[in-house]
Amino acid sequence: MKIILATNNKNKLREFREILSPMGYEVISQSEAGADIEADETGTTFEENAYIKAKAIYDILHMPVIADDSGLEVDHLGGAPGVYSARYAEPGHRCERVLSELEGVPDNERTARFRCVICFIDADGKAQYVSGSCEGRIGYERRGSNGFGYDPIFLYDDRTLAEMSADEKNAISHRGKAIRELTKLL
Ligand code: IMP
Repeated sequence: MKIILATNNKNKLREFREILSPMGYEVISQSEAGADIEADETGTTFEENAYIKAKAIYDILHMPVIADDSGLEVDHLGGAPGVYSARYAEPGHRCERVLSELEGVPDNERTARFRCVICFIDADGKAQYVSGSCEGRIGYERRGSNGFGYDPIFLYDDRTLAEMSADEKNAISHRGKAIRELTKLL
């Protein structure tokens, strides 16, 4: 089965493929499907933004499409960066901003989670949602070189997600959980 993924994010595309390809799904990016656009993420929730991205591509292709909206919620920061995770600082400085905002904050107040909401729009235009989250805490420095985004500062047990292999991350990550829920819908 072919699935169109509404994203320009190569890391998300890679993770969707790592999980769905062995299950027999072929994940096609929006640009490969001929819909090379960037929808404005004007929503205030992961659900709204996932729908905006999926609907923009559905309106062009009129085919089943999925979109992921995701981000990091840090409890000490009142849930920030949340839906603004991709825009929290200039590229390459987002982890540093979170680390500096948590300077001096003790271990037990560094709790955080990744959240992922996937919107699936079927051939008739009906939208359905699945989600996943991954609980952890923010470390004190960047560690590891795998993954992307906030992975180097997000501790799951004693390792950051950037210190895990792709399979290890996908087994416990917010996106991995949401994608496995998605396969129940498809
Ligand atoms: P958006 O869903 O396109 O708004 O982007 C979500 C942003 O959240 C990404 O650009 C990353 O900064 C962050 N993010 C989402 N998922 C992950 C992940 O699995 N690891 C690290 N950062 C993530």
